[in-house]
Amino acid sequence: MNDTVMDDSRIRGLPKAELHVHIEGTLEPELMFELACRNAIELPFASVEEVRAAYEFDDLQSFLDIYYQAADVLRTEQDFYDLTTAYLERAHADGVRHAEIFFDPQTHTDRNIPFSTVVTGLHRALNEGEQRLGITALLIMCFLRHLPEESALSTLEEALPFRDWIVAVGLDSSEVGHPPEDFQRAFARAREAGFRVVAHAGEEGPPSYVWQSLDLLGAERIDHGVRSTEDPELLARLVRDAITLTICPLSNIKLRVFQQMSDHNLKDLLHEGVRATINSDDPAYFGGYIGDNFIAARDALGLSDNDIVTLARNSIEATFLDESSKQVLLDELARYLEVQGIPV
Ligand code: ADE
Ligand code: ZN
Repeated sequence: MNDTVMDDSRIRGLPKAELHVHIEGTLEPELMFELACRNAIELPFASVEEVRAAYEFDDLQSFLDIYYQAADVLRTEQDFYDLTTAYLERAHADGVRHAEIFFDPQTHTDRNIPFSTVVTGLHRALNEGEQRLGITALLIMCFLRHLPEESALSTLEEALPFRDWIVAVGLDSSEVGHPPEDFQRAFARAREAGFRVVAHAGEEGPPSYVWQSLDLLGAERIDHGVRSTEDPELLARLVRDAITLTICPLSNIKLRVFQQMSDHNLKDLLHEGVRATINSDDPAYFGGYIGDNFIAARDALGLSDNDIVTLARNSIEATFLDESSKQVLLDELARYLEVQGIPV
């Protein structure tokens, strides 16, 4: 029996962390047009409506083709600042108290946008967002796995002067055919330099990519990881080592990882004891921010109040914050539950 204390507004108000959001995936069509105009770029779309209508995807690659093309409107430090500020405002409205945000430097440096332009714009927006909205945030630099490991290694070198602004490295882009084992040197070098490690795995790729991410790259969290349920030994490993999966329900439906939300294995994973979290991935493309993801999963899967609170608590516990900062957020969550009369 699923009681209904956790209505939409309580879900949005629930203090939470977002651990899987690509800043380039928060580019709303309106901002895309604004930046195209500002930078005198011609878009292959006549209107915002036409852009939205193009967001029908068959799989990950069909999405990535449009996503990388759209990123071309991001040219100046101010563009990266505006993009990040817009995300923080949306996240704030959904109760996000802390965000760990991916960016893809190679998407920009390959277009001759300097690494420093990207990271300075992001960093300035995060600093200001913390002052204005009270959201803390950390940056995670992702390597594009469709590019050679040499490109990841040189990107890592470019990042070293900004080491203090970037908490972790990750691995994203086209998964199948680009196994984590191909990036062992880049991740070893990143770990040596003190970066934390995450990796996209088990979104479209097989459970072996999740094993490789853990055992060969040293991943502390797995982004997506939903195909882990195909391998009982892997599932046991995730539970034993309290490995977090950063699950993105609306993304998984838009990219046809599951045909419909009621088929999603989020609730099964949670009930198996996996430290699952809910996130938005690329919210401008997939039909919603983190609150929408919680609501869609609750409605289709019948998540209980207890499930929803566990997901929020998991998100805070899985951050790369220090223990005392985590405790501040956990206390805030406990206070919220008390004030709202949510019995868990
Ligand atoms: N880059 C942006 N979104 C992604 C996803 N869902 N999987 C892999 N790479 C991505
Ligand atoms: Zn992702």
